[in-house]
Amino acid sequence: MRPTHHILLLALAAIMRPGLPIMPAAEPSPAPEWLEHAVFYQIYPQSFRDSNGDGIGDLRGIIEKLPYLRSLGVTGLWLNPCFESPFRDAGYDISDFYRVAPRYGTNDDLRALFVEARRLGLRVMLDLVAGHTSDQHPWFRESQRRERNRYTDWYIWTNSVWTWFAPNQQVVVGAAERDANYIPNFFYFQPALNYGYAQPDPKAPWQQPVDAPGPRAVREELKKIMRFWFDLGASGFRVDMAGSLVKNDPDGRATAELWREFRAWMDREYPDRAMVSEWSMPQVAIPSGFHMDFLLPYNRPGYTSLFRKAAPDEAAYFDPGGHGNIRRFLDEFEPLYEATKGRGFIAIPTGNHDTVPRIGDGRDPRELAVAYAFLLTMPGVPFIYYGDEIGMRSITDLPSKEGGFGRTGARTPMQWDASPNAGFSTAPADRLYLPIDPAPDRPTVAAQQGDPGSTLNTVRTLIALRQAHPALQASGAFATVVAQAGESPFVYERAGGGERILVAVNPAARPGEARLPAGFRCSKAQTLAGESEALRSDAPGWRVQLPAVSYAVVRLD
Ligand code: NOJ
Ligand code: CA
Repeated sequence: MRPTHHILLLALAAIMRPGLPIMPAAEPSPAPEWLEHAVFYQIYPQSFRDSNGDGIGDLRGIIEKLPYLRSLGVTGLWLNPCFESPFRDAGYDISDFYRVAPRYGTNDDLRALFVEARRLGLRVMLDLVAGHTSDQHPWFRESQRRERNRYTDWYIWTNSVWTWFAPNQQVVVGAAERDANYIPNFFYFQPALNYGYAQPDPKAPWQQPVDAPGPRAVREELKKIMRFWFDLGASGFRVDMAGSLVKNDPDGRATAELWREFRAWMDREYPDRAMVSEWSMPQVAIPSGFHMDFLLPYNRPGYTSLFRKAAPDEAAYFDPGGHGNIRRFLDEFEPLYEATKGRGFIAIPTGNHDTVPRIGDGRDPRELAVAYAFLLTMPGVPFIYYGDEIGMRSITDLPSKEGGFGRTGARTPMQWDASPNAGFSTAPADRLYLPIDPAPDRPTVAAQQGDPGSTLNTVRTLIALRQAHPALQASGAFATVVAQAGESPFVYERAGGGERILVAVNPAARPGEARLPAGFRCSKAQTLAGESEALRSDAPGWRVQLPAVSYAVVRLD
């Protein structure tokens, strides 16, 4: 039985304003060269590898596993927040931006991770929670006080405790000694930092303009945080809720301006570092200065429809039933790609810590191979969520952990081997951050290492293929060749570095055939991966023929 593919949609849509218009293109400034062939791996630090037996993953555990990550072929890591925090939103509630949380180690451990990773050719990005802090942060505690002080205007406070209504915004009422209420950014204990209002309401003078002293000071502090970690060796940041900073910014212009200021600063002082936004509006985020922007489920049904159900009665395209529709993805992706190509990269993730089900739920290794053939041959920058490279499954019905709620099941410990706790930790099982997948056939790295047909080795092969062919990398051109609603295969072409490469995927559990358009030209075809003989020439033209659940990557001459 395939587990039900339900998708958890975060209630972020309103906050992140998905209805923004396509922005005019900014002048392209070059992205760091290393992004061109980047493949990222997202590490949820608490669930990756516990080095000291306290049941929680840590930085030394990540260092221990760097050779494994190198063997996978990924070139970059993104670590979810690893800073001091009361952990009521699993670290997205920061109480000290400059200090690694003791449960993960020390700043020196993080520096050691940067150094060791670089020695192995891996770059490490941290998580920048730019929009809010924990309500336990000393800045917020100061800001709550009755007397004016340095932090009074670092958060957004109404003018009185009786002003508890602000259009389109949550307000937390009566939480301070100060006669005022505050605006949270997510959970109530995550007060929004004050980046000002694009259009302050003249009737609500507590809404400050973006260039007021409070918002300016917060901006400078954010730069200081980035500088601190850049100087310690971070290669960049994933920016949490990147579109949410300036309030009442209906066309996103003021938030875009803020990020352009940061990008200009980075281009001057840290030109080899990169930023990826949690915005899922690449046509806005990339002209705003981000090098990359994620496609995410909350506002991208086309992306969702690849591996998950975008609606209860819809099938995912990469499901063997063959009832999915690749146009659902392409109708969303193609305009975003056209609007951003040459300026920045769309990042397509396998999943993340906010998304259930995992890509591995209900898919066998052959089905996963077809999904990965697609993911690792698309333009932009792919992100693999830890465990997805072995087809780890999410766990349903876990009690919420640290504000995870329905997301908790996608955050269980990495499964390394057949030893106790799947090699994640030597702690007693009931002391683990989250339980290990109890399934007797749970996938592990050790079991897949020696098996050439395993998901792990397929992912390795496909990453190596991407690294060997510039046409398959971030800015290689992408063009759809055949994509029919409700039909399989889907065929596309990539081009770059003097090469043309054709990719065809057939996730359906029946053979598939596609006739290529009359203008298609090829004098010699060489299979690089997957089915050989998939591309056939027969009068009057060319066609692709694929067995059930298969793919082909073919170089064209
Ligand atoms: C998005 C993060 O991915 C999520 O895990 C977190 O709860 C919210 N932002 C709030 O920071
Ligand atoms: Ca530990």
